[in-house]
Amino acid sequence: MARRKYVVGNWKMNGLHGAIAEAEAIFVAAQAHSAVDVALCPSFTVIGAMAAVARRVKGTVGGQDCHPAASGAFTGSVSAPMLVDAGASVVIVGHSERREGFDESDDDVRAKGEAALAAGLSVILCVGEPLAVRESDGAIEYVLLQIAGSVPETFDPQRLAIAYEPIWAIGTGLVPTLDDVAAMHGAIRGALADRFGAAADEMRILYGGSVNGDNAAELLGAGDVDGALVGGASLTAAKFLPIVEAAATLG
Ligand code: 13P
Repeated sequence: MARRKYVVGNWKMNGLHGAIAEAEAIFVAAQAHSAVDVALCPSFTVIGAMAAVARRVKGTVGGQDCHPAASGAFTGSVSAPMLVDAGASVVIVGHSERREGFDESDDDVRAKGEAALAAGLSVILCVGEPLAVRESDGAIEYVLLQIAGSVPETFDPQRLAIAYEPIWAIGTGLVPTLDDVAAMHGAIRGALADRFGAAADEMRILYGGSVNGDNAAELLGAGDVDGALVGGASLTAAKFLPIVEAAATLG
């Protein structure tokens, strides 16, 4: 089936309120590309303000993480219902910077994904291998274990996207070969089809890791790639919009 292209900006720990004008420019220009879904995921502190702009200009705003519980004594954490309350409609879970930097296990990621779906959010669930695993030819096996362990049982292909982000490609300027990207995305879809049946065909699989305006057309054109999760190049309209345009061209 035809899957709509999806281009998501992960602002990571960047962006103060002054950056919301940049988000507005991105949302406004993205309207010209009606075949592409575009979302921006800023830090918690600006979600509310960005969501207010997004309501006015028709944009989509997301979080970068959520706690598995809806509320409680978890100092410093933000829950999925809180994200909804702030105006987010999507959340990233299981980013490698959380899996590695905050010791998140597959179980943690699955619980977060389940909490987000239960709160009504869409989910972008990240997987990806470290360099040593890629170099030892174990990348597909490694990622399929992450998929098996972290994809929620309440699989909803309309509200769950997978982002394949090889850790060694994040922020480095390195990208896998197109054949390697296509093989990984095909393997992910195959594993989810084995588990959930034909619905896996509706789910979008994004590629992430050093996507920019120069390589987006190639990467988005690789087999089974339905969009991109973009870090550094999502912080300005000048860098992000060429990626959205590349996705629109591939339609
Ligand atoms: P870069 O696009 O900066 O490599 O980051 C990718 C990423 O981690 C998006 O979640």
